[in-house]
Amino acid sequence: MVQAWFMDNETTDQRLEHHRNPPEFISLEDLFKKTGVEYFKLNVDTFATDGVLDKLKAERGYTYEDEMVCSKECLPNYEEKIKSFFTEHLHTDEEIRFVLDGSGYFDVRDASDQWIRIAVSAGDMIVIPRGIYHRFTLDTKNYIKAKRFFIGEPVWLPYNRPADDLDCRKEYVEKLNKGFVAPAC
Ligand SMILES: [Fe+2]
Repeated sequence: MVQAWFMDNETTDQRLEHHRNPPEFISLEDLFKKTGVEYFKLNVDTFATDGVLDKLKAERGYTYEDEMVCSKECLPNYEEKIKSFFTEHLHTDEEIRFVLDGSGYFDVRDASDQWIRIAVSAGDMIVIPRGIYHRFTLDTKNYIKAKRFFIGEPVWLPYNRPADDLDCRKEYVEKLNKGFVAPAC
């Protein structure tokens, strides 16, 4: 079950939960309203045949997909990569991840520049909008396996903060000011 919460400001291990004291959770509905981050629940045992993922892919135009494993054993230059994932950045396209196994944290900034931590595990699909500042880390279990999706030819390039002059950032800030509206279903 996915959970999201506002983070503390401690600089201890990034893989810890980093709850505030007392914890301040945020619902998925509020997470969307505050950041535009979208969430979908999928069934890891049946997604290949149940049609839910296929429908999402068709509706959103995801034409590319691959799979990645993030662990000490499977990722070349592990420590370096983990550090770069955790450097605050944005992309010019959506970042879409469907977790097949393991777990990790996506951190996103809200309008007041506070970090919101989103804990994802098997069955969670998350869509991080283009232009939002974010970062990723493994949790203390040090393992995640996920599918990545993309519209067209994939571009994984991160733009580290500050990247406020990019068009995708300006568009995101405009949406943030206007408020995010869920697409009609
Ligand atoms: Fe990213």
